[in-house]
Amino acid sequence: MEVRINRESYEEVPKIWFEASPLQNYVLSILSHMFPDGERFFIRAVKRYADRVTDPKFQEEIKAFIGQEMQHGLAHERFNRAIQEATGADLSWFMWLFTVPLFDKLEKYLTERGLAYRFALGCTAAAENMTAAFAENVFKNPEAMEKMRKDIRYLFEWHAAEEIEHRHIAFDLYKAAGASYGERIASAIFTYLLIWFYVVVGTSYLILKDRDYPWHSLPKELIDFFMKENALGRITIESFFDYLRADFHPNDRPIPHKAEEFLEQISRQKVA
Ligand SMILES: [Fe+2]
Ligand SMILES: [Fe+2]
Repeated sequence: MEVRINRESYEEVPKIWFEASPLQNYVLSILSHMFPDGERFFIRAVKRYADRVTDPKFQEEIKAFIGQEMQHGLAHERFNRAIQEATGADLSWFMWLFTVPLFDKLEKYLTERGLAYRFALGCTAAAENMTAAFAENVFKNPEAMEKMRKDIRYLFEWHAAEEIEHRHIAFDLYKAAGASYGERIASAIFTYLLIWFYVVVGTSYLILKDRDYPWHSLPKELIDFFMKENALGRITIESFFDYLRADFHPNDRPIPHKAEEFLEQISRQKVA
């Protein structure tokens, strides 16, 4: 595992940059806004346990996990600024709603009192399961990806490939911390519901802000969102049920061949 830096500047992004689906375009735009603060939360949750790890290989992997999540956040922040410019949507209220109650108040209150360290790591492991499932899908959906602008496609492929690469870190640390099945599932229900509450609120706002939104396509898009293979709603549900298995492990799902190929390709470019 290594930390790979994304130097794209993301300027003049169109408001619909994911042409395969206007609905999923806005869902992904909101997820992109949630990544930087969400990933910084993952880093804090992992760091609280990192010094208990004695295996040097796992220590190195945790370091790489932290570096990768840090870099994802920085690249998505640049992309998010471009989205707000393109849509004319001011999402500062959304960012307040996402970060202040959850991280500045709840997380701070609990962790300052030494509480919920392991629950926060459970939320991280569950969120990482969802993102890994989205990430696997990026490489299973070439038609949609091929239509994307090159730099945006790179952002999602780079982020996705690293999510797949580090998908086991938070989970293994959580298991080593002694989490029970019940606690794992409770933290997953909490995390999945919370993420989707914010996604629904933010996406609704972006759709209502878009004067050209193709409303006639919305009923079909909503059905597709949950039914169609490779759609984000369906992947969310499938990944949740997968996580319910008592013997679940993130590496049970195969790594898409294209994700490995992508990482090899960018290492070759670095050498060249
Ligand atoms: Fe990430
Ligand atoms: Fe991650």
